[in-house]
Amino acid sequence: MDKVDEYKKQMVKLLNGFSRKYFVREVFRDFIQMSGIALYNRYGCDSDLEELFNQIKRKYTQDEFKDFSSLLGLVILAIQAAKESEYIDLLGDVFMQLNLGDESKDQYFTPLSIAKILAELTATGEAIKAKIAEQSFVSVLEPTCGSGVNIITFAQKVADLGYDIERNMCVMGADIDLTCVLMCYIQCELYGIPAKILHGNSATNKYHTVWRTSAWVAYNFENKIKTKEKIKEADTDVVKEEPLVMNTEDPEPVLISSSQIDNQQKIDLLEQLALF
Ligand SMILES: C[S@@+](CC[C@H](N)C(=O)[O-])C[C@H]1O[C@@H](n2cnc3c(N)ncnc32)[C@H](O)[C@@H]1O
Repeated sequence: MDKVDEYKKQMVKLLNGFSRKYFVREVFRDFIQMSGIALYNRYGCDSDLEELFNQIKRKYTQDEFKDFSSLLGLVILAIQAAKESEYIDLLGDVFMQLNLGDESKDQYFTPLSIAKILAELTATGEAIKAKIAEQSFVSVLEPTCGSGVNIITFAQKVADLGYDIERNMCVMGADIDLTCVLMCYIQCELYGIPAKILHGNSATNKYHTVWRTSAWVAYNFENKIKTKEKIKEADTDVVKEEPLVMNTEDPEPVLISSSQIDNQQKIDLLEQLALF
């Protein structure tokens, strides 16, 4: 068994250990929310999120909380190891192993092997190279991102072509389920993928919250995407298809909200490499 499988096995064991007292689904959700906040607040410093973190923490004993720290440690170690061998959808695998998928939301994540084929079909190496030569990065849109497996396999492809994923790619993702949003955010953050993950409904284009990874912020992808849109508008008189509309003038990431901000900014699909 390789290191990554060993870490994964330990995670499943620790999470199942909670089942005597709690529903594992709720423990997993709490773990993902606390981990998402812990990672985000290293650079986001959001006091409301800090308060939410503490609210969740208070549901558990000190010993139980230590298990959450161990779990996050295992995620960090496993993704570090995966980056040196093969990028994997760690949290999606653990989620599926624990049988936590919500059937009403069609929550079955694509197996890694299939996601790799999809990444191959979505964009050839030549197309990726051409896009990076033109604008220094390639962008991907994943409107039903789940845990982010398609994003992760795409990042592996960009890395295998010899590019720096922190500078040469970016991702816009969305999911209706907050646990999925945060699984995707956590994995993008730990793989170093510049990503902006929205929580909301991609069918109605209503989004509540947004989670930007530190690489998205550090390499200024908010402006790069806006500039790209402006250049394109200036360069073309072609009548465009109706674009997908997403909220991107968004609020700071606040968990669980249905009544929040509904601003809209247009993200043009034509120039995106859509993966889903
Ligand atoms: C079949 S899973 C696929 C996830 C991911 N694309 C993959 O290949 O593993 C579908 C995902 O879509 C999300 N979803 C369902 N309806 C949605 C909607 N209206 N807007 C955004 N996400 C949605 C679910 O929460 C779930 O994570």
